[in-house]
Amino acid sequence: MNGLKIAVIGGGSSYTPELIDGFIKRSNELPVKEIHLVDIEDGESKLDIVGNLAKRMVKKAGLDIDIILTLDRRAAIKDADFVTTQFRVGGLEARARDERIPLEYNVIGQETTGPGGFAKAMRTIPVILDICKDIEELAPNAWLINFTNPAGLITEAVHRYTNVKTIGLCNVPIGMVNMVAKMLEVDSKRIKIDFAGLNHLVWGKRVYLDGKDITDEVIEKLCDGGSLTMKNIPDLKWDKDFVKSLGMIPCPYHRYYYMTDDLIEEEKESVKTGKGTRAEQVLKIEKELFEVYKDPNLNQKPEQLEKRGGAYYSDAAVSLISAIYNDKKEVHTVNVRNNGAISNLPDDVVVEINAIVDKTGAHAITVGQLPPEVNGLVQAAKAYELLAVEAGVTGDYGTALKSLAANPLVPSVKIAKKLLDDIISANKAYLPQFK
Ligand code: G6P
Repeated sequence: MNGLKIAVIGGGSSYTPELIDGFIKRSNELPVKEIHLVDIEDGESKLDIVGNLAKRMVKKAGLDIDIILTLDRRAAIKDADFVTTQFRVGGLEARARDERIPLEYNVIGQETTGPGGFAKAMRTIPVILDICKDIEELAPNAWLINFTNPAGLITEAVHRYTNVKTIGLCNVPIGMVNMVAKMLEVDSKRIKIDFAGLNHLVWGKRVYLDGKDITDEVIEKLCDGGSLTMKNIPDLKWDKDFVKSLGMIPCPYHRYYYMTDDLIEEEKESVKTGKGTRAEQVLKIEKELFEVYKDPNLNQKPEQLEKRGGAYYSDAAVSLISAIYNDKKEVHTVNVRNNGAISNLPDDVVVEINAIVDKTGAHAITVGQLPPEVNGLVQAAKAYELLAVEAGVTGDYGTALKSLAANPLVPSVKIAKKLLDDIISANKAYLPQFK
């Protein structure tokens, strides 16, 4: 092995410095030779700005890693060892529309959850399947580490419709470990959480400190106002009776399902007061970030990146790549085939779960049955995801309608239909499958 070739699809993303930081920190265990940052022409030279920062970061770290900036996806993928995906079809403008359209019908407007996530999935599925065709042809042994949202659903599409070896990844589980550590004022390495569920709908079933079960203590802290959220989700407090009775830790995104009315109000308030939807806020943060990235003296991941929801992304991604490459047999929380791990879900669906990672992939650790209060929501969300994958591939209107109607956040078929029509019309340029 002469060193690894990594292809990053969506390399012009403002998150790329996170990823580069991850490769720098783990350079002693991962002999990376080339990182190809691939993107599309955007008229703003984002790829150049981020790519040049990446080059400065690698230089400062004294590493011999070639950073290649390119618009040629196939050349980047050819013979890659790992392909990571972090692209956003239609950019933040499309995300802003995904967030605004549902709000008109008094429905949650969110990047990955509810109808907003559905719209993003419809735009993304044709592109990811195209990328997978390239991987099958040009780098059949490569691992695809998918971070593109909605990450669980997109990983499901890849599993169902391609032969690419893939693992889906999200920063929520690692974020929860870090937040619990902060709550308890201990080093995050001492915290372990048994995760099970779906992406952006994952539960921390048990929490351990140095191997001792401290779930009840964490629940107490959470009920006493302890903070457990991401930068992009309002920190609404949980109902004590509910969480105590659940006996497990909900993820930040569960708020959209259990505090739907309050969050719709929050979102409407943001729009009314001119703060804008999250995408509109992020557009401003990104402008600042890219200005900072342009500074020729900047040669490390800047602090401002912490204003984004994707914290710890690099840790999750690069430690996973290292676990595969080094055959570590280490536990990671990933999106993979269930294979019986959650016994009330089919074997062939993708779940977010703790898994043992080695050079042959990620192997979900058995958790058994989910209790009824968790199972109900998971079944509904997975039914929605499976229908959405089919709709995203076929462009069949009826399947798309069934998918939205199955989404737990959509109140009726009437609203599902209005949402679908609006989504199709607002995204025409990105939905070749919907004729
Ligand atoms: C979290 C989620 C990501 C999501 C991000 C949004 O990290 O896990 O899936 O993309 O937040 O953050 P942003 O700063 O773009 O709102």
